[in-house]
Amino acid sequence: MGDLFDIESQERAEAVRLRAELEDANYKYYVLNQPTLSDRDFDMKMKRLEALEARYPDLRTTDSPTQKVGSDLGKKASGFEQVAHRYPMLSLANSYSREEIEDWVRHLPAGVEIVAELKYDGLSISLHYEQGRLVRALTRGDGVRGDDVLRNIRTIAGIPTYVAELPDYYEIRGEVLLPWEAFERLNKEREEQEEPLFANPRNAASGTLKLLSPAEVARRGLTCRLYHVLGEDLKGETHTERLEQARRWGFPVSENMQVCQSVDEVMAFIARWDTERKMLPVATDGIVLKVNSIAAQQELGFTAKTPRWAIAYKFPAERQLTTLRKITYQVGRTGVITPVANLDPVQLSGTVVQRATLHNEDFVRQLGIREGDKVWVEKGGEIIPKIVGKEEAYGLQQETDYQFITHCPECGAALVRAEGEAAWRCPNENGCPPQQKGKLEHYVSRKAMNMDGLGEETIDLLWEKGLVRNIADLYDLKESDLSGLEGFGQKSAQRIISGIEDSKQVPWERVLFAIGIRMVGETTAKKIARKFRSLQALQWATVEQLTAVEDVGEQIAQNIVAFFEREDNLGMLLRLQEAGVQFTASGEEEEVLSHELDGMSIVISGVFEKHSRDEYKAMIERHGGKNVGSISKKTSFVLAGANMGPEKRKKAEALGIEMIDEAAFLERIGDE
Ligand code: IVH
Repeated sequence: MGDLFDIESQERAEAVRLRAELEDANYKYYVLNQPTLSDRDFDMKMKRLEALEARYPDLRTTDSPTQKVGSDLGKKASGFEQVAHRYPMLSLANSYSREEIEDWVRHLPAGVEIVAELKYDGLSISLHYEQGRLVRALTRGDGVRGDDVLRNIRTIAGIPTYVAELPDYYEIRGEVLLPWEAFERLNKEREEQEEPLFANPRNAASGTLKLLSPAEVARRGLTCRLYHVLGEDLKGETHTERLEQARRWGFPVSENMQVCQSVDEVMAFIARWDTERKMLPVATDGIVLKVNSIAAQQELGFTAKTPRWAIAYKFPAERQLTTLRKITYQVGRTGVITPVANLDPVQLSGTVVQRATLHNEDFVRQLGIREGDKVWVEKGGEIIPKIVGKEEAYGLQQETDYQFITHCPECGAALVRAEGEAAWRCPNENGCPPQQKGKLEHYVSRKAMNMDGLGEETIDLLWEKGLVRNIADLYDLKESDLSGLEGFGQKSAQRIISGIEDSKQVPWERVLFAIGIRMVGETTAKKIARKFRSLQALQWATVEQLTAVEDVGEQIAQNIVAFFEREDNLGMLLRLQEAGVQFTASGEEEEVLSHELDGMSIVISGVFEKHSRDEYKAMIERHGGKNVGSISKKTSFVLAGANMGPEKRKKAEALGIEMIDEAAFLERIGDE
């Protein structure tokens, strides 16, 4: 009895742990776009949890990850309206072998046709057309509600915004993707800007689609493949007929589909595409099998999370076994310490792999690996190879007693790990060489001070020669310091000096970005500079005043305050000021017109007569307010136009939030 009870309580505890792990993995994958588990690990954990829940059915509650799809919903104030799906947006069951496919086929009505198509690795989107017009574009969200990212979807070439022949209501779903080429270009830019890289095109596409600036989305070059038609009274008895119709109407329907009559044909399709997919311009991670007949699909129906009429087959990631020689530690430009696996060289997808990131302390512990172990290296959807487990086992293992280093390998400072953060950091930002160089490189970069002739290599050289240690030192450089250096003529020396000189004209908002306060990116700096129009004003700002600026949360505000509390930073700023760097807004930027709406969160809904929505958004900001996407307790008021959405109205009424019309709003901000 004792034993039985023990097993049961152990298994129940395991289920609780798996649930937490899967929820955490879902969040990191869908919301943060930083996957921590390989798809295979994820699926294996999910299968184990399903098995445990089958044994102890009381554990299978509706909020278990086995019963719902991973959610990509942004925070409520993410700037997108959350809208309910007309038909739930589900995920697919995964399979990895012929046996699993055969098992699926066995449960289908005899003789049905199966369509094999590529499984694109982006993020799913549902396009809604009413009277032929594209009216909404919803992300999967939590499967029940999604974020309406229409304004970003409109920037994707090839998605029609009007099709006269469509039925009154028409919905078509597919995948938004960032092509390999665009992905590589984007990561290159991010590398130059010292921004974190996207692990794979899927994460990059997802990050891009949630951006608030459609212009930036357009620039990145997303594309789309559509693969599922929904709606009532549709013509066409089969999935393929409906897709062909959509293609004739001009929709970018996915290519390379094949109707299969047997599992042999399916396997041949898989074998062919596992190789040929490498030539495609976009990422694929498997194939999808669907029952072709719509009537048969309807008969088969759905489980809580997936259709029974479709299944995914995931291509195996390429992996190799090699020896982990040594774990070394890299200090990043922002002070983050990354453990790196140094491996015996091994061939993987056509390249030689010798190093792989181990991310952070917890990752190494969870893999249970030690120096000298044989480990699996994998190149899957990710570009950067990664270690996925020890020889004996695939995936995460027992934790080991692995100890992270305690001091910075570059400067010797004691490392710190903030609560809730995965990374250890070196706190010595102004005295640790890689961080000092990082700050210099950031300062001179194109989007910051844009100093001609100065890049990573020159900064390295100036550093080696002891000519610069911080950004203020740049302004002490003389032509004679440079012209004698290796590879420098008088001309290039002159160019650098005049680039430094020109930087004194760079406006305050970019200077604020350039001085490198943690988490103050380009856009945030702009928003802060609009409100705090000089260094002096910003220096004395409180956390409370700072968080009133759009996009500035508690953490950023604290970073700003902490930045100005450091003596060494103040000394450096003083030197910059003396050199003539702009610490005051020139007046050419958009001005703050009043503080009437300071600290307020305002929702705009409906259509307006006097100004466009964008104009109202700008007005709100120029009078000190924040425009947010959805109504919550924290909403100060709703600027309500004609035809305000009924959902929004209901919600505002339920929460007792004031709704004011266009005229009242203009009066309030003193505008006619
Ligand atoms: S059909 C009811 N077809 O894979 C499910 N999905 O892992 C309808 N995906 O959420 C989905 N290529 O985002 C379907 N050819 C394809 C696909 C595809 C990629 C994605 C989709 C889905 C996920 C499930």
